[in-house]
Amino acid sequence: MFRRPPVSKLLALSLAIGGIALATLAPAQETGPSEPPVGTYVLPPSGPFSPDKVQIPNMRAISSWIRSGHADASGEAFSHWDEEGSIPPVCSTCHSGTGFRSFHGLDGSEPGLPAEPVPTGSVVDCATCHDPNISDITEITLPSGVVHPVIVSDAACTTCHQGRAAGATLTKALGDKAEDTPDPELGFVNPHYALAAVTMLGGYGAGGYHYPDKTYTGRFLHAKPVATCLSCHDPHSLEVAQDTCLTCHQTGDPQAIRISRQSYDGSGDLSKGIHADIRSLSDQLMAEIEAYAKEVAGVAIVYDGGHYPYFFADANGDGLADTADGRSVAYKSWSPRLLKAAYNWKFVNADKGIHVHNPHYALELLYDSAESLAGPTGTDFGALNYLR
Ligand code: HEC
Ligand code: HEC
Ligand code: HEC
Ligand code: HEC
Ligand code: HEC
Repeated sequence: MFRRPPVSKLLALSLAIGGIALATLAPAQETGPSEPPVGTYVLPPSGPFSPDKVQIPNMRAISSWIRSGHADASGEAFSHWDEEGSIPPVCSTCHSGTGFRSFHGLDGSEPGLPAEPVPTGSVVDCATCHDPNISDITEITLPSGVVHPVIVSDAACTTCHQGRAAGATLTKALGDKAEDTPDPELGFVNPHYALAAVTMLGGYGAGGYHYPDKTYTGRFLHAKPVATCLSCHDPHSLEVAQDTCLTCHQTGDPQAIRISRQSYDGSGDLSKGIHADIRSLSDQLMAEIEAYAKEVAGVAIVYDGGHYPYFFADANGDGLADTADGRSVAYKSWSPRLLKAAYNWKFVNADKGIHVHNPHYALELLYDSAESLAGPTGTDFGALNYLR
């Protein structure tokens, strides 16, 4: 995961050092209590100038952070709005430290969406997580409407890693529309990305679409002392040290770990990680989505993870998205049943760590969605030997 910081980041680094955040940290351990407050510039007023002799407070935290996605100013998550020059309030709360502070009222504004678009150029900076008033955040309203209590160490992570839609979003959009009738007014509902904080909360966080006659596993408590994001992720590099896992698991490879003694994917193979069961159910669900679109909704569907809104029409059935005016044609033949299943597929796949964050919730959503489509497509679901 190591990424070499570009020069622009080194500039950001010296800015970070002068930023408000540092005043709120406790640099005492690193610099000594008699050290004067940190100024804007890293270079000391006089020698020695050899880099290893220059003491930079918080250097460890800064050098880990700067290599992380949070500091990657040129990444899509922070540069997406560069052409417009500002970030719409509704996007700014997670795509800029400035928007985050405004949303929580940490900058002295009323809590809630920023009143104005937020200037581009701010990443998940130090002050996002180290704002002196961050402990004022005691609860976060998730897209499902659930008001979730948070403690100081997961308030920030939960704000930004909760996605933007929930099963409830679909329930509301679909009303009592007929389950298998394509409706051109329906469009794909995207759960958004990296939504680990809701997958971890499972059925209680209700990020996925829940089929009415089913029950869903709740928060994945893992095992004590694993409790929050920081039990596994370094808050600055965001990396997960495999040693953390070896206390309890035989391997530190997250994709090889398995505890479950049942095979969910019908393979009977208990030697592979739970990750593999999730992958095969996910693939089966995509096959069902494709079959249903073609045979029941009447227009074939193509998934392209690189382009919004990800699902495209393939009316001529050549396996490629149809194009009009040089652009791919968004899928427009959603029936409620198809939309729910595609949402759940995308939700599970939006969290690249779901096999660690909440494997059982993922398996349930995939199972129920595939089962729901199997009726209309005529798939003999029982013969697949999936277990829920
Ligand atoms: C609740 C927090 C949240 C909100 C609100 C939010 N995003 Fe995001 N968004 C994220 C996170 C977290 C990621 C990081 C995904 C990754 O790259 O791992 C992301 C990623 C993205 C990406 C990059 C996707 C990619 O393929 O790399 C785009 C583009 C994006 N968001 C657009 C938007 C837009 C537009 C809005 C406002 C309409 C918005 N986001 C609102 C949290 C949010
Ligand atoms: C995504 C949130 C987040 C961001 C961004 C962040 N920190 Fe931290 N930082 C934390 C958390 C959480 C802890 C407490 C970790 C613990 O208790 O083990 C911490 C601990 C620290 C510590 C004390 C322990 C150590 O690692 O030395 C310092 C110093 C620090 N951060 C400095 C910074 C600086 C400087 C930046 C910006 C370059 C920064 N942090 C950015 C979340 C963050
Ligand atoms: C202000 C919003 C915000 C906060 C707060 C935040 N994140 Fe993120 N996080 C993001 C965005 C946006 C990305 C995508 C960055 C990218 O793709 O460059 C991301 C990426 C990540 C990644 C992917 C790894 C990588 O290097 O790209 C991990 C893991 C992560 N965050 C964990 C955390 C944890 C743990 C916390 C709390 C300590 C946290 N985040 C707090 C917005 C946030
Ligand atoms: C039990 C340990 C554990 C906990 C708790 C945990 N994670 Fe993870 N997370 C992982 C592991 C391990 C991976 C990588 C999985 C893999 O590579 O197969 C990961 C992956 C991720 C990713 C995707 C990284 C990428 O490269 O795209 C994000 C984002 C993320 N976690 C955020 C969070 C957030 C936010 C929380 C708290 C709500 C959290 N995680 C809690 C272990 C954990
Ligand atoms: C304190 C002990 C402990 C630590 C540390 C720990 N785990 Fe676990 N893990 C467990 C237990 C116990 C379960 C079973 C929990 C359950 O199913 O309710 C589990 C379940 C899992 C599962 C699901 C396996 C399955 O078949 O359902 C995965 C994946 C996983 N852990 C990955 C990790 C990773 C990756 C790390 C390190 C970042 C980690 N764990 C750290 C104890 C731990």
